[in-house]
Amino acid sequence: MKHFISIQSIPRESIDKLLDRAEQIARHRPTGRPLSEKILGLLFFEPSTRTRMSFESSMLRLGGQCLNLGGAESSVMKGETLADTIRVVDGYVDAIVLRHPRIGAAQLSTEFSSVPIINAGDGAGQHPSQTLIDLYTIRQSFPLDGLDVGLLGDLHYGRTTHSLAYALAKYGVTIHTISPKGLGFPLSVKRSLTRFGACVVEHESIKEALPHLDVLYVTRIQRERFPDPASHYDTLHSYRITPELLSNAQKHLIVLHPLPRIDEIDPGVDVLPHAKYFEQAKNGIPVRMALLLGVMK
Ligand code: CP
Repeated sequence: MKHFISIQSIPRESIDKLLDRAEQIARHRPTGRPLSEKILGLLFFEPSTRTRMSFESSMLRLGGQCLNLGGAESSVMKGETLADTIRVVDGYVDAIVLRHPRIGAAQLSTEFSSVPIINAGDGAGQHPSQTLIDLYTIRQSFPLDGLDVGLLGDLHYGRTTHSLAYALAKYGVTIHTISPKGLGFPLSVKRSLTRFGACVVEHESIKEALPHLDVLYVTRIQRERFPDPASHYDTLHSYRITPELLSNAQKHLIVLHPLPRIDEIDPGVDVLPHAKYFEQAKNGIPVRMALLLGVMK
């Protein structure tokens, strides 16, 4: 694997191998310092807590080092292009983790980089390393094949749901979508899912979908991506997962969320056995360790 840009271009067998390796890492941390000669560049042109810190922590645990570049302190503020930034950083590091507000930024960067590029979120495009974490967390509870997975929230701008849906299609999962009006999957995502032969069922409400689900994947409204900042107000508070609502779910249902959460999951859910989202965030370490070994070793 050279670059890690989009989940649909990675065969299911390679995904399974990465997840198996992450499981091994979680059981037995790699001995020695397998990436001790390597430097990872973290280029984040959007805010991040989990992705940035877990990539850095993973690299340090593998004996490597990190160089951090936040968009606000970079020469992009002086007008430097992404292409030139990548060309230059390419000479300083052995792999680049890139988060950028534009769809396609990671793919574009591969044209200017001789070192691997890892897409850490490209606008409303994809977030493929989050998808590995999501699959890994689901696998801790059930085999992936043939599950019923609900995707709830802002499916239009929510990049984690796009890459997760593409991945789930490889496992014969039935994807149940529940979103506020106007925030369903973009046409491009719908078309790709159809091309991949994905089974997608659209629901009017979470109440209608919930009894069918093995996994409920909740996302926030991506208000920073709305063209008119005021236009997201109508969608706010239009869905909320509560302990009362979950009393209608199957006993084995697990609730995931890529985080950050705003108010779409009531904190009362955190203590229920359904809640797996903090474990999911923690799983970022073995999964990203496996990914870094995959691209740099
Ligand atoms: N899940 C996720 O991408 O979180 P951050 O935006 O905090 O990195």
